[in-house]
Amino acid sequence: MSDKATLEINGNKHEFPLIVGTENEVAIDIKTLRGVTGGVTTIDAGYKNTGSCESEITFLDGEKGILRYRGYSIEELAEEADFLEVAYLLIFGELPTKEQHDKFHADIKSKSIVDDDVRKIIDAFPKSAHPMGVLSSLTSALTAFNPSSVNVDSEEDMYNSVVKILGKFPVLVAWTMRKKQGLPLDYGSNTLGYVENVLKMMFKQPNEKYVQNKIIVDALDKLLILHADHEQNCSTSTVRIVGSSHAGLFASLSAGISALWGPLHGGANQAVLEMLEAIKEDGGDTKKYMAKAKDKNDPFRLMGFGHRVYKNFDPRARIIKKAADEVLADLGVEDPILEIAKGLEQEALNDDYFVKRKLYPNVDFYSGIIYRAMGIPTDMFTVMFALGRLPGWIAQWREMRLRKEPIGRPRQLYVGETLRPFKKLEKR
Ligand code: SDX
Repeated sequence: MSDKATLEINGNKHEFPLIVGTENEVAIDIKTLRGVTGGVTTIDAGYKNTGSCESEITFLDGEKGILRYRGYSIEELAEEADFLEVAYLLIFGELPTKEQHDKFHADIKSKSIVDDDVRKIIDAFPKSAHPMGVLSSLTSALTAFNPSSVNVDSEEDMYNSVVKILGKFPVLVAWTMRKKQGLPLDYGSNTLGYVENVLKMMFKQPNEKYVQNKIIVDALDKLLILHADHEQNCSTSTVRIVGSSHAGLFASLSAGISALWGPLHGGANQAVLEMLEAIKEDGGDTKKYMAKAKDKNDPFRLMGFGHRVYKNFDPRARIIKKAADEVLADLGVEDPILEIAKGLEQEALNDDYFVKRKLYPNVDFYSGIIYRAMGIPTDMFTVMFALGRLPGWIAQWREMRLRKEPIGRPRQLYVGETLRPFKKLEKR
């Protein structure tokens, strides 16, 4: 295979190096393009064909439905690892030894207290506020209480900001939910595992002893692993580009939370449940919603279906669908929504419109069914996605900073008015 790409513009030939990744993906390195062509750039709406960086963290193969974190398959990690192990793997590149795991967890626990003044910020929000907006605000506000988390040029400073956010973020998640429910904002316990502690902070009733349910702990641990990273998706690219200006980690994460909120991205898990509920209210008329999804004049999309990269089954969707069956059976929950989801999936998988466009269920299609069975409110589903994605965002942000990536600043093609003289008000 040639190691160069040749571009001919106005009879002039220009060569650009081809870079080959460890999974034999090929990229054209166009960093000299503007210089050698006198200002020619590229255009690629939505960056469907454009790589923003070289990364060692996550590998996806959309055609084969492959997802690996640092070379380990998502199937093995979901089955064998716990969320904190996967967080360590994504951030530092290797699965931790027992000592490393225990020290990492101890350091996180030691930084898991949130300044009590944060309660005043939460109190200022109306109960109607969407939890993603609250969480994004609180995450950015953490900078004010942890100013040393901004300038993290040293590995030690960076490590401290990493364990701080891994310790404090679950508190913000729990407090965001409980504020809406009118429940006290408490802490869990440092005697618990990471995911057990999250669940206790979210669900402990003030007048009852909290009893862990291993089924729910294991299911949430698996869901968080499945959401932990996904290479250069919308919210991760946001975290990287905000961080590329050397804004602090917490501010960068806050921006990522806002990007994830959108219904085309992480907000889809909430939109899927709302869609399935609407179909249920409509007497389970899935055909009507399939027709709406295919109607170009109707903005409705089949939420939880389709993906920018996967043109095959999202491997996470397979695992979550299986987990949904198991968790609901273990919890003894009968949820008609699950049957509607399966019916919709079967229809879509046999419908020419979806087959031709290679639209398959994605990570968001079944996850909400498990969250609902756990008693998590629908408007908290995307918050749970953010909790899972946190280590991936951190890992990508840290890689961008350690590799000293330049500030992100794309070019454009100007298609507006050319030069024209100013017209005084009386002449307009
Ligand atoms: C996530 O990038 C990531 O990795 C994201 C994520 C992660 O882990 O970070 O995987 C998480 O965001 C998953 C996606 C969740 N979003 C949804 O479920 C919302 C519904 N899906 C779509 O909006 C859409 O599929 C996207 C946004 C996910 C992908 O959109 P693309 O890649 O820009 O594809 P497109 O909009 O160009 O669609 C191609 C065609 C179009 O039809 P034509 O113009 O060719 O006729 O497919 C159609 C689209 O109209 N299409 C759909 C559809 N998704 C695409 N038609 C109906 N229902 C859908 N869901």
